[in-house]
Amino acid sequence: MTKIRAAITGIEAYLPEYILTNEELSRMVDTSDEWIMQRIGIKERRILKGKDLATSDMGAEATRRLLAKTGTKVDDIELIIVATVTPDMFFPSTACVIADKVGIKKAWGFDLSAACSGFIYALQTASQFIETGRYKKVLLVAGDKMSSVTNYTDRTTCPLFGDAAVALLLEPDTEDFGVIDHIFQIDGSGRHNLYIKAGCSYKPSSYETIDTGEHFLYQDGQTVFKIAVSKMADVAVEMMERHSITPDDLTWLVPHQANMRIIEATARRMGLSKEKVMINIERYGNTTAATIPLCLWDWEKELKKGDKLILAAFGGGFTWGSLYLKWAYNS
Ligand code: UT7
Repeated sequence: MTKIRAAITGIEAYLPEYILTNEELSRMVDTSDEWIMQRIGIKERRILKGKDLATSDMGAEATRRLLAKTGTKVDDIELIIVATVTPDMFFPSTACVIADKVGIKKAWGFDLSAACSGFIYALQTASQFIETGRYKKVLLVAGDKMSSVTNYTDRTTCPLFGDAAVALLLEPDTEDFGVIDHIFQIDGSGRHNLYIKAGCSYKPSSYETIDTGEHFLYQDGQTVFKIAVSKMADVAVEMMERHSITPDDLTWLVPHQANMRIIEATARRMGLSKEKVMINIERYGNTTAATIPLCLWDWEKELKKGDKLILAAFGGGFTWGSLYLKWAYNS
């Protein structure tokens, strides 16, 4: 029997208009363009400004653009999976909010929380629905409004993050293109190295948690850096070995964009030259679930049917993984 794989058949993004530059940041906290470029590699990031605008607004706009671009009707969407750690609210899920804003009425859906690994985990999850043969059109939205959890008085975290959302259409493919394999791992012992301390069931919001800034993202940057460098490369190299992919065979590494030094170290371990690595961290910063699909969207016109891609991510949890896919279309 022919194997059904899940292929990405369309991609669109929403980037907020407001650009927060290193120059502006260095007027807000004690930092500099030089330090941020040397240690992280980010020049600017997008910030969603405007009252009552949330992750769902970015995701809904990306979805509208995707449906228009691919000629897909709202009623054709059967399932919506939203990868985010900055949902509009605890519940209902951002999938419900996006469905309502876009007018999708014949689907079910849910949110998936895996921080910076959110996109690859959601892509694998969505794929499995398609591989059963039952689902024909799955909408995947990966987005985060990181500015809503970033402390703009903390110079160790505020240069890192930006806001964005990307929407992708997944459809069945029987020609051996699409999602081929994944290697995923979590290690909850890292949960205190990158997290938001308060505002949930463990420590509900109170005047005290607000006063101490515990509703903002906290990161022990050095610890996360050390583990990210080794784990992201481990699973990317393992994926190459498992499928006998040489550096020449691989068309692209699509890495999570958290730090230029982590990306370079991963590429080095894989034996790849920089020309084979998608990098746009300089323009958007770390948009958490959106970084990898933002790369795919940026490079969409260059991607060719049959291109071999390894996607790799590491993030809060800890969560990490690599995913191997063969691109399914020429644009
Ligand atoms: O996406 C999820 C996963 N996250 C990651 O992968 C992020 C991993 N971590 C990192 O990328 C890096 O650890 C950071 C970019 C967050 C920090 O870079 P670092 O090279 O690890 O810096 P550090 O924390 O060791 O700090 C070095 C120095 C310190 O000063 P002292 O103590 O040596 O005097 C910091 O206070 O740099 C100082 N520093 C800054 N200086 C200017 C920290 N932030 C800044 C800043 N501007 N923004």
